[in-house]
Amino acid sequence: MAVIASKCPEITVTVVDINQKRIDAWNDPSLDELPVYEPGLKELVESTRGKNLFFSTDVEKAIDESQMIFISVNTPTKDYGVGEGMAANLKYIEACARTIARVAKDDKIVVEKSTVPVRTAATVKSILEHTGNKVHFQVLSNPEFLAEGTAIDDLLNADRVLIGGEQTPEGQAAIGELTSIYGHWLKPHQILTTNVWSSELSKLAANAFLAQRVSSINAMSELCEATNADVREVARAIGMDSRIGPKFLQASVGFGGSCFQKDILNLVYIARHYGLVEVAEYWEQVIRINNHQRERFARKILTSLFNNVADKKIAFYGWAFKKDTNDTRESSAIYIADFLIRERAEIHVFDPKVSLDQMLSDLNYLNSRPADINAAKLSASNDPYAVAGDSHAIAVMTEWDQFRDLDWPRIHDGMQKPPFIFDGRNLLDRATLQEIGFEYVGIGT
Ligand code: UGA
Repeated sequence: MAVIASKCPEITVTVVDINQKRIDAWNDPSLDELPVYEPGLKELVESTRGKNLFFSTDVEKAIDESQMIFISVNTPTKDYGVGEGMAANLKYIEACARTIARVAKDDKIVVEKSTVPVRTAATVKSILEHTGNKVHFQVLSNPEFLAEGTAIDDLLNADRVLIGGEQTPEGQAAIGELTSIYGHWLKPHQILTTNVWSSELSKLAANAFLAQRVSSINAMSELCEATNADVREVARAIGMDSRIGPKFLQASVGFGGSCFQKDILNLVYIARHYGLVEVAEYWEQVIRINNHQRERFARKILTSLFNNVADKKIAFYGWAFKKDTNDTRESSAIYIADFLIRERAEIHVFDPKVSLDQMLSDLNYLNSRPADINAAKLSASNDPYAVAGDSHAIAVMTEWDQFRDLDWPRIHDGMQKPPFIFDGRNLLDRATLQEIGFEYVGIGT
């Protein structure tokens, strides 16, 4: 919305949320950081806020005054009842649709921006039409393809924007309205229009294909370790085939983030719903490899440290699910910390953007261990040298650039011997670290 506001000065954009604290934070010019850390976002918000970008909790007023409404609520994996652990929980989408239906007094275009299962637009339309004030709604699907950490650039230089709409004159007119917004900064060939169902499914398909690449290279990483191949060399060799391409072939401690796992589970659930067992199992395997990669990494730490980490201090460099974000959802660091705490290790974390409160809430959400045990076993500091001091090992969880530039000889001197580095991102230079005296363990190398 900040990008739209900055590129379309004649359009008024109002972001509404029922969480007063969060809206206050977005409105507060004195805060050093916005609620979401995203490179370039602060500058963009500061240049548009109060001009044509507004943050408010007055949901009804914003609906009443808008011609176009983006539904951008979260659609987490359902954690109860039918479809538990797989299906998307659409209660927030439904609540939005009902509020819009109740409040709207004139025709509106409703845009699904949240990632939703295919055919959700039918639900939204049905609620709008049956509970509304007899006004006309057009429902468009406009899935988001930006990645966190590169969001602004991904939007400004989008590979494509996808807009799905009804194949009727009214549907095409609504597509035209949204196209004209993106047309402020994108060329016509970057804006793709389809029917609603193709658009909804394409979003899930894109994330499934991306995650599948990570799981494929991670599966290769295990084979590399068994055969003395080097996964970085394999990735380079296969990535130079233009049919395969070089991106998203970085072996890692497993993908995280709020999207990949959730969207694949969603896809699997839909496939099962239609009785497509083989299709469901095919995509499910992407998640199984990801879980396996996390567990494999955690076990490697345990076995390398002489099968005993009880009361040993292990330093984590990074907690966020990737660099340049403070988002920790589904980060592999949470799962690996949990495994090691079960083995009674003590985890000390340095992450440039994530608070200890967030880390503890991630752990408490994942396991049923009493919160005070998690709090006793997990600590954090802004000082990477203090975090590593006295530790038996450092585990690199996130590929923050600044980890490369640390004073590694100093870190080495402060650690227990032999000092291990488990580089879950293949971020650091093995030869240099070995020369300093570290036991270096990478992924697939
Ligand atoms: C992902 C998609 O890339 C976006 O296109 C999509 O819009 C977004 O989900 C969404 O559905 O909202 P995001 O989750 O922000 O974006 O981050 P990614 O850059 O895709 O990274 C996901 C995970 O894969 C991270 O943990 C990352 O470290 C890991 N990864 C990525 C690897 O382990 N290896 C790679 O080569 C690439």
